[in-house]
Amino acid sequence: SLPKTATIIEVGPRDGLQNEARTVHTKDKLDFIEALQQSGIQEMELTSFVSPKWVPQMADARDIVAGAKKTGRQFVLTPNERGINSAMEAGAESIAVFVGVSNSFNEKNINKTTDQSMETLKPLIIKAKQDGVFVRACISTAFHCPFEGKIDPQKTIDLCQQFVDWGVDELSVADTIGLANPQESHELFSQLKRQFPQVLIAAHFHDTRRMALANAYAALLAGIDRFDASAGGLGGCPFAPGATGNVASEDLIHMFHRMGVDTGVDLDKLYEAISLIEPHVSNPLQTGMYTLYKNR
Ligand code: HMG
Ligand code: MG
Repeated sequence: SLPKTATIIEVGPRDGLQNEARTVHTKDKLDFIEALQQSGIQEMELTSFVSPKWVPQMADARDIVAGAKKTGRQFVLTPNERGINSAMEAGAESIAVFVGVSNSFNEKNINKTTDQSMETLKPLIIKAKQDGVFVRACISTAFHCPFEGKIDPQKTIDLCQQFVDWGVDELSVADTIGLANPQESHELFSQLKRQFPQVLIAAHFHDTRRMALANAYAALLAGIDRFDASAGGLGGCPFAPGATGNVASEDLIHMFHRMGVDTGVDLDKLYEAISLIEPHVSNPLQTGMYTLYKNR
């Protein structure tokens, strides 16, 4: 049976905007974040503390954290000690670290092998947990890699096990390039739920091949009730060739509400948030529900 409620972790301001070709001004991002909060979003990835040479769009991370209204749980993404320290100084309370199961992807994304990344992260996570910080671990290329092809699910589970051993609060398990199918989603998320009942587990789908909604439904059936999603379907990882945006928050929320799974998000207010950011991004936003709203 389906859960009565599901939590949407809005990643539009981070995953959505990190790959945007146009410079989006800090003020416009903050207006977007505030409108998302007003729609009822309780958890959000606000920004990332990464090298501005690698991801210029996130160069204003400090100002975003300082400027965003503190409500609900707000994550900032970061891969290293420098990023964690800057995030904490800026007032962040929850962090999201990230690593790829695929070594080739991780090297392209963070300039380290997967093992080197894990060595770097271990003491940082243990320290953050001692300091009472909420830690989310984002697992990229959990299903498929743009360079290595299909990933052995056991490799993903083994990586998750290490994070769980170090005390993370949440695993966010990602189909980075939108190639997973609903059967793969159901199998991996069922196994993760069985093996890691002590942590929160979120599903992070990209919609490159329009399978994200089906994958989310499959994950829901596997017992997952936390979903990363991006308003307007914005986004993609700059270091994963061909990756497009996340599953659109509005499409996912609409599907959930139609099935009686409440998210606490007001769709009309969410459309207003999307129409605030749309003029500032390169491409028109054409997700199913937002298109219906625009043509109403
Ligand atoms: P590097 O060049 O190997 O390392 O980059 P470095 O230590 O030499 O750093 C390079 C420069 O960046 C230095 O500056 C550092 O100080 C600076 P310089 O001395 O040349 O002036 N730097 C930083 N600046 C600000 N904040 C920091 C920071 N760290 C170093 N935290 C590094 C290594 C990890 C920094 C780089 O590869 C990087 O920033 N990568 C980020 C990649 C990224 O953001 N990818 C997208 C997010 S992951 C994603 O989208 C996937 C996800 O959505 C799930 C999914 O869908 O799969 C989560
Ligand atoms: Mg992503």
